[in-house]
This record gives sequence, structure tokens and C-alpha cells, in this order.
Amino acid sequence: PIATTGDLITDAAAWQRAVAAFNVITLEHAEAIVEGAEAVGSPVILQISENAVAYHRGRPRPLARAAAEIAEQATVPVSLHLDHVQSTELLYRAADCGFSSVMFDAARMPYTENLAVTRAAVVWAHARGLWLEAELGQVGGKSGAPPLDAHAPGARTDPEEARSFVAATGVDALAVAVGTSHAMTSRDARIDHALLARLRATVPVPLVLHGSSGVSDDDLARAVASGITKVNIGTALNIALTGAVREHLAQDPRGVDPRRYLAEGRDAMARTVARLISTLSSARAH
Ligand code: G3H
Ligand code: ZN
Repeated sequence: PIATTGDLITDAAAWQRAVAAFNVITLEHAEAIVEGAEAVGSPVILQISENAVAYHRGRPRPLARAAAEIAEQATVPVSLHLDHVQSTELLYRAADCGFSSVMFDAARMPYTENLAVTRAAVVWAHARGLWLEAELGQVGGKSGAPPLDAHAPGARTDPEEARSFVAATGVDALAVAVGTSHAMTSRDARIDHALLARLRATVPVPLVLHGSSGVSDDDLARAVASGITKVNIGTALNIALTGAVREHLAQDPRGVDPRRYLAEGRDAMARTVARLISTLSSARAH
């Protein structure tokens, strides 16, 4: 059935577990993510990013409605999340597209601007019953400093700044920079576990790990044990999808029916989802 991200995260936080949030780019992604979650009997978050909306010609609704339909029919709780929203125009469409939560991403801005626009997004979201995640990744964040990619491996979230940011904005969860980086195709990101432990002790809302495809199984489980509640994964599914499709097409160079190769890509994504969710659930053993 369809669930809200707020409920899934509150529940996970109470048990010191994490919920996996996978990026949906195509219908096959949504099908595979739910199949994988059902295989291991865990709730899951389907997230559609602003970039994925742009890919679908700027229209959020077709994919969101398909994902909602799949979520409703799932045997595990599934929520719909709008990811990495920079444009307020898209933010304002979140509720009417069926999302129960949004990640509003102003991490590229200097601290005070990030705070101001995030506060406004929270006010808007909470008035509509939406759960809102924001991001703080630029250490210092002084205006005039050269822009720093919030997800560069070197970027770090400062615990005291994070505490003030959460208090001033009222966000429901915070994405933190602790050593990961987006779109990694190798799993050699080094998580700063000492910083993560300090953030967990300082910040009163659930913490979110982005760029989790670059993190090893071991480090993922440790990150959950250190206090990460939402784990965002995108690239790992695309590696599985593209690898399976590439292999199929190499063996069947004359084939033209997309169902043949997409089915293999979808199965590969479902296996990856099941494996990664199992990794996150093993965290309590640490
Ligand atoms: O918000 C999405 C995630 O941070 C995905 O990152 O593609 O590097 O796994 P990833
Ligand atoms: Zn992200």
C-alpha cells in the first residue's frame, strides 16, 4: 500500500533502522524497486528527482502517477518522494502530483540564503502536510567563498551549523555531507563515521545519506548503525540496468524488442534493491 515518507522515517528512526530511497527514472525502475522490496519484505521510498522530471520533458505527473499506482498495489508500504528540488515551481506541484515528501535542495547557496529559502519551503510544505528534507553541506558556507559542490567527497556538514539550521528552518530531516559523492560507479567513498556520530548527537531530526551508490556494504551498514535513517540510492540501479541491457544486446545483436532487454535490466535492478535493503537491515548487528 501507499505510505507517507514521514511515517516510514519516524518508524525507522524509532527502531534505529534506515529506509532505502531509490531513484525512479523509468517505469521499469519503479517496478523493480517495489519487486526488490517485496522480496525482502521491507518498506521502501520511490523518489523522483528534478533531473528525472526534466528528462521526462519537464512533466512530473506521468511517472509520479505510474509510481503511485505501483505503490498502491505493493505488498509492502511504499512512499513517493520528490528528490533534489531546486525550482520552487516544481516544489509547488509536489502535492498535486501525489508526493508525500520533498527534498528541497538549496545546498549550493551560501548558508543564510539556504536557510531563508529552506525556511520558506518548510512553511509551504507543512501547510500542505508534506514532509520536507533539506541539505546542508557547505562547511562554513560563507558568502563570497567559491562555490563548493555539496557532495564533493571533501565537503562536510558542520554539526553546530546543522543544529542551528534545523532549529531555524523546522526541516523534518537533514541530508548531510559526510564523505559521499553523487553518481559514483565505484564503491570506494570513505564515510567520516566520527563526524556522523557527532552529527547524530547534535542534530535532532533524522539524517539522510546521499550518493550512497559509492559506499561499500560494510560502510553502509556502519552508517545506519551511526544514525543514518534514509539512504538515497540511484546510480547502483543504473549500473545494474545498463550492465544487463549491454550484456543482452551483445548476445542478441539483431534483437529489436525492448521488452527482451528491459526485462533483464528490470530483474537486475530488483536483485540490487533486495541486496542493498538486506545490507541496510544487517546494520543492527554492528
Ligand atoms: O538523491 C539521490 C541520491 O543521493 C543518489 O545518489 O546516484 O550516487 O546513489 P547516487
Ligand atoms: Zn542526492
